[in-house]
Amino acid sequence: MDRLIMLPGPTNVSDRVMNAMSRPVINHRGEAFRELYRGIVEKSRHLFQTEGEIVVFSSSGTGGVEAAVLNTVMPGEKVIVPIMGEFSERLGEMVEIAGGKVVAVRSEQGEAPSIEQVKHAVDSNSDASSIMIVHNETSTGIAIPYLRDICNYAKERNLKVVVDAISSLGGYSIPVDSWGIDVCITGSQKCLAAPPGLVLLSLSREYTSMVRSRKPRTRYFDISRYLEYQKKWETPFTPSLPLFYALDEALNELLEEGLAARVARHERMSGMLYSSLEKLGLKFVAREDLRSRTVIASYYPEGIEDRDFRTRLEQEYGIVVAGGFGKFSGKVFRIGCMGLINQEYVERTVTSVEALLSKMKF
Ligand SMILES: Cc1ncc(COP(=O)(O)O)c(C=O)c1O
Repeated sequence: MDRLIMLPGPTNVSDRVMNAMSRPVINHRGEAFRELYRGIVEKSRHLFQTEGEIVVFSSSGTGGVEAAVLNTVMPGEKVIVPIMGEFSERLGEMVEIAGGKVVAVRSEQGEAPSIEQVKHAVDSNSDASSIMIVHNETSTGIAIPYLRDICNYAKERNLKVVVDAISSLGGYSIPVDSWGIDVCITGSQKCLAAPPGLVLLSLSREYTSMVRSRKPRTRYFDISRYLEYQKKWETPFTPSLPLFYALDEALNELLEEGLAARVARHERMSGMLYSSLEKLGLKFVAREDLRSRTVIASYYPEGIEDRDFRTRLEQEYGIVVAGGFGKFSGKVFRIGCMGLINQEYVERTVTSVEALLSKMKF
């Protein structure tokens, strides 16, 4: 039975992208790598809709978030962070580790702070240096609907704007230049449909010059060092060559489809997932206006045990979904609607969930 990875990352990867990883190991200080890296950066500009710089780290998404934090936050600086679940919580912790003072704008897990709350935090903390926002809280399936407004609002007030779009960019259009985003972070293993292990950061012009003028606080994640090496299309440290090949091929797939078409496909497929699961009688963590297009977090009906359900869904139907986080642990399962997601995947997932729930007497 074919396994269908319906996790909120990593997600299914095409054979074309998988095969790209078997290309030969090359000198990462040679012409072939330079060409590969330049291609990746240029293609990624289309994804981020930017004319600014892009850097790629051989690291999972967390490394990208940590890089953004360490290159942005100086000890003692105030940083506004909307916190609504596991990943925004971790972002706040990273700011603290970097010596920053977190101005947390909290909501219950399964909700999102309102735009008024976040604007109020911006207005009442005029001494804050930046705002750092998780766009799509993968732990609860909630996407904040006011990303553009809050980024523009914060930018107009001279805050540096950092967005973790690890589980959303590509499923959503986030034009970083026009929305005033200084650093936007995304991971290879989500809507880009590449394997896990790379993280991409877009950098505004202003941010690029700021970071170049600062003393680094990290070696591996020193963005200014990456920018320096990028002048000759190299990375400061040994890049994960197989993953770079894969990312390049995944970006080719993205360009062939077109960003707008990919975003529309994510929107359509998530609409199908929500409406079909709703017809089965399932309820979602997110209320309608906060529902994520890339992660669907659905409550289990009474009497369905999490481990048992997910193990059987995988063993009997080949469908792999994720469990819940924090207070939702054991109470919800999460379906990823990312990357290669298509009608066949959606139908196979929904019919399998339906069949299993009925076997389990729901
Ligand atoms: C919004 C968000 N931020 C950060 C991360 C961390 O990424 P990684 O697990 O690749 O380190 C994830 C992973 O799911 C995520 O969804």
